[in-house]
Amino acid sequence: MTTDAKAKAGLEDVVAASSAICYLDGDRGILAYHGHDIHDLVRAASFEDVCYLLWHGRLPNRGELGDLQSQLAAARPLGEPILRLMKQLPASDGMDTLRTLTSALGHYDPDASDNSPQANDRKAVRLTAQLASLVATYGRLQAGGGPIQPDPALGHAANFLYMLTGNRPDALSTRAFDVALVLHADHELNASTFAARVAAATLTDMHSAIVAAIGTLKGPLHGGANADVMRLLIEIGEDSTPDRIDDAIRARLAKKIKIPGFGHRVYRTEDPRATHLRRMSKELGERVGNTRWYAMSQRIETLVKGEKKLNANVDFYSASTYYTLGIPIDLFTPIFAVSRIAGWTAHCLEQYSNNRLIRPRTDYIGPPYPQMVLPVEQR
Ligand SMILES: CC(C)(COP(=O)(O)OP(=O)(O)OC[C@H]1O[C@@H](n2cnc3c(N)ncnc32)[C@H](O)[C@@H]1OP(=O)(O)O)[C@@H](O)C(=O)NCCC(=O)NCCS
Repeated sequence: MTTDAKAKAGLEDVVAASSAICYLDGDRGILAYHGHDIHDLVRAASFEDVCYLLWHGRLPNRGELGDLQSQLAAARPLGEPILRLMKQLPASDGMDTLRTLTSALGHYDPDASDNSPQANDRKAVRLTAQLASLVATYGRLQAGGGPIQPDPALGHAANFLYMLTGNRPDALSTRAFDVALVLHADHELNASTFAARVAAATLTDMHSAIVAAIGTLKGPLHGGANADVMRLLIEIGEDSTPDRIDDAIRARLAKKIKIPGFGHRVYRTEDPRATHLRRMSKELGERVGNTRWYAMSQRIETLVKGEKKLNANVDFYSASTYYTLGIPIDLFTPIFAVSRIAGWTAHCLEQYSNNRLIRPRTDYIGPPYPQMVLPVEQR
């Protein structure tokens, strides 16, 4: 493909929507939700603050935050039919399970067929609460445990870890997970958000739009990369020498195999989310007395930057961060969805509020028109 054809195929730099939600400057490495810089949000806001910000365009005051926390807590328990379905599904990928069960949630949502702004606000809250419960419960069942009821006294991040492990998490684990949720919550017109907006623009229901987004996030070029990073680190081996790490990466680059967790369509600088995940990976490693995954990641980052001029993206250090938190690899991409549901629903609300069907055209490159339609015996 020529450079021009490549750019066209990937809609590179094409502006396909107007949005007030996310400001992204790939040259300066800036990411901001409704104008609030991601670095400031990481310092001073929780995931619940960010949900409110993405949905309403401003940070909540104390009363509004309390109301949202109560609504999320009330929506977290999963109904018996959903739990039954989860147990009945054949063993499969975490994202497949999440996609099917999110679709199933729509069948039981009291506002399922109501596309009014009020009903969609309520569905955004419910989907955000319930996706976390789905992923935590799925992880629990995979590990051979029984489902754990949510604890309404816990915030979103702490409750997720509690429902996953059965233990109330300590402050550092809660903080690390909350930061990961804040960082992944929205990212402008990434592939899964675009899928959600295209679906919403047909005026289909919000659950359907979110199912489209989950299926899109699953791909290894998008959210699936975080799990691939960890598989790569494990394949290279925790006890590898620096030379062995370099050889393993160089061998892949020589074969033109992409290194998961590197490169980005928009950023030309450091991905501002990677800055925080790198720190979290280090801090968590030091806390558990095993910084080898972090050290290996750092080595790979230096090498790939030197050899290919590619920066680590959000997925690279989230892998060792989640792994050090004791989260199974199969949950890494579903956890991306647990956070990105805030952005997906915000974009659906924005699309519904000022909608026009999204229907682009193709550049036709097939046989010249017209072609003869021959009877079957002459073809
Ligand atoms: C993110 C990504 C899909 C962006 O893709 P894109 O803008 O279409 O860029 P391309 O895939 O066309 O890559 C451009 C060049 O950089 C190389 N490249 C991009 N990412 C690379 C990676 N992770 N490892 C090695 N080389 C990479 C490509 O091979 C290509 O080289 P070429 O021009 O010699 O063929 C791409 O960087 C990638 O596949 N990264 C790995 C998966 C990943 O981490 N995804 C999560 C993104 S947040």
